[in-house]
Amino acid sequence: MELCNITGLKGKITVPGDKSISHRCVMFGSIANGTTEIHNFLEGADCLSTIRCFRTLGIEIEETDDTVVVHGKGIHGLSAPTNILDVGNSGTTTRLISGILSGQPFESKLSGDESLNSRPMKRIIEPLTEMGANISSILRNGCAPLYICPGSLHGIHYNSPVASAQVKSCILLAGLYADGETSVTEPSLSRDHTELMLREFGANIHSSYALDSTKATVSITPVKELYGQKITVPGDISSAAYFIAAGLIVPDSEILIQNVGINPTRAGILKVCEDMGGDITLLNERTEGGEKLADILVKTSRLHGTTIEGEIIPTLIDEIPVIAVMAAVAEGTTVIKDAAELKVKETDRIETVCDNLKAMGCMVTPTEDGMIITGGKLKGASIHTLLDHRIAMAFSIAALVAEGNTKILDSKCVDISYPAFYDTFEELL
Ligand code: S3P
Repeated sequence: MELCNITGLKGKITVPGDKSISHRCVMFGSIANGTTEIHNFLEGADCLSTIRCFRTLGIEIEETDDTVVVHGKGIHGLSAPTNILDVGNSGTTTRLISGILSGQPFESKLSGDESLNSRPMKRIIEPLTEMGANISSILRNGCAPLYICPGSLHGIHYNSPVASAQVKSCILLAGLYADGETSVTEPSLSRDHTELMLREFGANIHSSYALDSTKATVSITPVKELYGQKITVPGDISSAAYFIAAGLIVPDSEILIQNVGINPTRAGILKVCEDMGGDITLLNERTEGGEKLADILVKTSRLHGTTIEGEIIPTLIDEIPVIAVMAAVAEGTTVIKDAAELKVKETDRIETVCDNLKAMGCMVTPTEDGMIITGGKLKGASIHTLLDHRIAMAFSIAALVAEGNTKILDSKCVDISYPAFYDTFEELL
């Protein structure tokens, strides 16, 4: 994809359904009784990996133009897969399904693409093993492919060293198959879609926050049944983030992004944009199915640098590449700290963001847990996405304000989370 600088992005758009929520609808629907009807499901490659896996586990899933219908078979209704489960590029599929598979009376193996198979799985293998699961890394390197055999699970209390919704959700899902209460404490609250949605499905799940710290604990006790739901997936704030950034930094722009999920555990980017001087207004705020939504109005603004650190990090972790792009054209310096998790995403995003920003002429220094960016002017470059969808999209936004042409290599990788990304752009020209 070749892009050049523009001005005047104007219009009203919607973004596709939330990726995290789409995965969970299919997973929870599969182990619920009755049908789960999903509207605005994200048809991105990652969520299609989840559908493919649950079909391999014997679940009938119908896909029509605007609806996905999951014919759930109950908590104990999955059947032994005849094939290795292909999780593609999806960390969420891998980690969440591992929790469910650990509680099954059959063996399973799962594997993904090169990037997925190099991501850390010890973070789920350890707590699942503590629960009594039989899960191992086939190559003994702490990564997928994973092999899971039947085990009898007991409830544990797990103190997670990382604020990760994938780790938390994996343990909670295994907890559905345990003999007592399972709880997870994380250093700060990660996205809570599992908690909100499982509760709607009828799970016995409780969250609490220690008053004297930022630590958050969630506990679950097994129930006999979950019940199919009708769900409309909110627009993905992680996808909206690219258009929020574009609206703020492309001169003479005004964009209304409708029906975006603004769950506080996901909406850190809004706070950062505000801190950077961005003109953002939330309209039509409402709550549906436990999730908050709003329409987001963005206007071109003069941005300045800021510091992003601490407990806000998990609420914007996937948006850091595009936040870094905003910082690269803002006035002054932006410091991003406490974000070492970036190193274990689809790529090492400290490295991929810094390398590509440098290629565009930005003054940026990678650090152990983030980066320091001094804003200025960008110039066109060849962007090495390393097949990371968020790098492709973030640097497509950088291209819009860079001098000269920018080439996004392997831009097709946007299909992982936002197949229509470049089409949405056309709507704003
Ligand atoms: C996700 C959780 C986050 C996020 C990922 C989706 C989820 O990962 O980066 O894109 O749906 O639970 P971690 O839980 O590893 O932080």
